[in-house]
Amino acid sequence: MSAQEPEDLEGTEFGPPAPATVVDPAAPPPEFEELVASTHTAAQLDPTAPPVLSVRDLKMHFPLKSPLVRRTVGLVLAVDGISFEVPAGGSLGLVGESGCGKSTTGQLITRLYKPTHGSMMFEGQDLATVSRKQMKPLRRDVQMIFQDPYSSLNPRHTVGAIVATPLRTHKVVPNNQVLSRVQELLEVVGLNPEHYNRYPNEFSGGQRQRIGIARALALQPKLLVADEPVSALDVSIQAQVVNLLQDLQKEFGIAYLFIAHDLAIVRHVCPEVAVMYLGKIVEIADRESLYEHAHHPYTQALLSAVPDVKQAAIGGRRERIRLTGDVPSPINPPSGCRFRTRCPIAQEICARHEPPLVQIGPRHKVACHFAGELGHHPAQPVTSRLLAEDGAGRSDEAARLVAEVATDVGYADSWFDLGSQTVVSGARKVGGESPVPGGNLPPET
Ligand SMILES: Nc1ncnc2c1ncn2[C@@H]1O[C@H](COP(=O)(O)OP(=O)(O)OP(=O)(O)O)[C@@H](O)[C@H]1O
Ligand code: SF4
Ligand SMILES: [Mg+2]
Repeated sequence: MSAQEPEDLEGTEFGPPAPATVVDPAAPPPEFEELVASTHTAAQLDPTAPPVLSVRDLKMHFPLKSPLVRRTVGLVLAVDGISFEVPAGGSLGLVGESGCGKSTTGQLITRLYKPTHGSMMFEGQDLATVSRKQMKPLRRDVQMIFQDPYSSLNPRHTVGAIVATPLRTHKVVPNNQVLSRVQELLEVVGLNPEHYNRYPNEFSGGQRQRIGIARALALQPKLLVADEPVSALDVSIQAQVVNLLQDLQKEFGIAYLFIAHDLAIVRHVCPEVAVMYLGKIVEIADRESLYEHAHHPYTQALLSAVPDVKQAAIGGRRERIRLTGDVPSPINPPSGCRFRTRCPIAQEICARHEPPLVQIGPRHKVACHFAGELGHHPAQPVTSRLLAEDGAGRSDEAARLVAEVATDVGYADSWFDLGSQTVVSGARKVGGESPVPGGNLPPET
């Protein structure tokens, strides 16, 4: 294990004195991208990596209890049928507004909640259905970094006790080696190993997040759910923690489900990104497709809402799209497309039919009847043929084949080409041969 420099200890009572720097008060504060770019390039996609986690049609419907009659009076559809894969040793980003179901997704994967429906295949086992006993050894491989570094560490326990807990619970090392392993882990995350007997309140936010990372690493997981791991931190500390996560991924081959609000950070960390809205995935794609060629009006609005100073970090300046209205309640979501109450291009079909998540490129899926690049949304629904809405009377076989393009988890070798409105087949791998239109297309009648 290589030690990290304890950067954010510098100048504190715990670290060496900070070197004298000349600060220009008129200069703007450095941005995240500048801070990481000098040492770490953006994580790259490995299209050959098999999935370490394969999630299919995952749902979490929390019962809504009435305090008066003590019975279930409704359901909170926090996560409502999402499918995705996390590649081994790679990272998938999960973004979306507050309350869209990101943390619940992470808590399902780590089985803090048992899902209402769906499967989560990890190393041949379905995390959705395993018993508590069967889950215990799996917990070693699937760990979580929590959203809030202030509330996720027990203030009454020393850092040593916190990081040692998983080691003791899972009996990973003999008792007489626990302290040395804790110190090793503290060193890996850039903390002073001698500070194992201090309490969380003696550390800064960045240092606490490092403690949470050390705890998550203790069992050498294969998959880490990082729930907003840097959103509570200052920009410079964010850059340090992101660099640390990237180093750890390279060194130990850990896969990340990286949950975040900040699209600039996600772009740096994740070669693939899923966008959630009200419990659903509305667009999922590789970095280039999502940031340069977003096809869903919600993704386009999210990208346009990134502050001006960060627009360069997400691939260029965008015109601001202002969404009106509040996010609807997940207890009673709108019919059809859940985004329709705020969508600037919604039409009548959007209330009637939920748009299927359709693969529209080698690594790009979108759920929108009018999917198209910003300013190029089509006048007619692109899903007409998929929904047999055009009255053409396609055969069941045609509908079945096209539905496969819409529902399969991960990416298929064929997809629905929006330009030609046909299913094209081609090499899915980056650098493969170009797609062949109409390969498996059922004849239009
Ligand atoms: N235990 C629970 N019981 C009932 N509803 C819940 C529970 N946990 C979460 N929810 C609801 O589920 C929805 C999704 O919550 P979740 O915390 O997953 O959102 P999020 O995307 O992580 O938001 P944020 O960005 O604010 O962290 C919200 O409407 C939330 O109120
Ligand atoms: S399906 Fe309709 S409402 Fe939903 S995002 Fe597309 S255009 Fe907007
Ligand atoms: Mg959350």
